[in-house]
Amino acid sequence: MKIDEILETKREGGRLEPEAIRAFVDGVVSGEVTRAQAAAFLAFAFVRGLDADETVALTLAMRDSGDVLSWPGLDGPFVDKHSTGGVGDKVSLVLAPLWAELGAKVPMISGRGLGHTGGTLDKMESIPGFRVDLDADALRRALAEAGCFINGQTGRLAPADRILYALRNETATVPSIPLITASILSKKLAEGIDELVLDVKWGTGAFMKTVEDARALADSIVRVGTGAGVRTRARITDMNQPLGHAVGNAIEVEESVRCLRGEGPEDLAALVCELIDDPRARPLLDSGAAYERWCRMVRAQGGDPEAPLLGSGCEERVVEAPVAGTVTRCDAWHIARATFLLGAGRLRAEDPVHPGVGAWVHAKVGDRVEAGQPLVTLRHADRGLDEAVALVRAAYAIQ
Ligand code: URA
Repeated sequence: MKIDEILETKREGGRLEPEAIRAFVDGVVSGEVTRAQAAAFLAFAFVRGLDADETVALTLAMRDSGDVLSWPGLDGPFVDKHSTGGVGDKVSLVLAPLWAELGAKVPMISGRGLGHTGGTLDKMESIPGFRVDLDADALRRALAEAGCFINGQTGRLAPADRILYALRNETATVPSIPLITASILSKKLAEGIDELVLDVKWGTGAFMKTVEDARALADSIVRVGTGAGVRTRARITDMNQPLGHAVGNAIEVEESVRCLRGEGPEDLAALVCELIDDPRARPLLDSGAAYERWCRMVRAQGGDPEAPLLGSGCEERVVEAPVAGTVTRCDAWHIARATFLLGAGRLRAEDPVHPGVGAWVHAKVGDRVEAGQPLVTLRHADRGLDEAVALVRAAYAIQ
């Protein structure tokens, strides 16, 4: 099928065969398909939809547009998790070493923060020396040595997604379940994994604002992941308030290390174990044994797990409860926006983030507070403090 026939078929709501979808994706990467044609395809797919088979075909073609990692000589199972993004979402930092300690191999390719959600790579880079740009050989060594790694996407992993995602941003075609499914899965399947667990978040701090939307995305990813030959499960989890207490970069590493040492917080520990779904996970996490595995991973990627984290030396400002009562709202989006204004996040991919700024959320939904008791401690540097304080105040309802 020629590209004009592919476009006409989708424009009229027809079904595309896998070969046609693969030809389109290959053409996008080679440049044979023009940007205008690619944008038209995305718009037609957005409006007309893609069925399950078409979405599987798009996912596999995007996965195969670049390197697909494989791990000869290493024993599996090879597993990973993907989160649709949240506030204080440091699950990857705890889950990767814990799952590795349970005997799995976790080749985790992660992203940077954009907008109000934090990025795992930005958090890991607050560890002195830690590198997230290892090449395929170094990744293999890290996986053999530590059983897990947390690395960035190399330029050769699912390049079709990089092109198409940028075009979707430009053409208002991001919020399409088949396109999101193919985008997420193409990158994850290129890791050479056998099993994937999805943490699909819903709520004010999530990409999906309602449970129904989260369920539709979870269903689609599970169906397509399974169709592509990977055992795929999903959990739908609440992101109306931050996960744990820490929101930022270094501050989330601090909290993750505490969790790996068996010191909670409970919501984070429980979610990590629910995602791994192995009865041995919780006792192992509580014993602190996964901390040693974390240190191995950090060292394997060039970092020093004992060194002070980057960005120390921030000032602190405590935001106190205006009245006594029970916290009925601690809104994730407001807290995220506050830490973003302090410099913890970025709007454009090339912007730097401040490793040290962030928030420690003392009081969460259901907690009883007295007037004047700390709600949140903000770590701040040279910007955004007044607006951040106002946002933290607006995040809370106390009754
Ligand atoms: N994250 C991705 O990687 N792709 C999407 O399309 C949406 C979120």
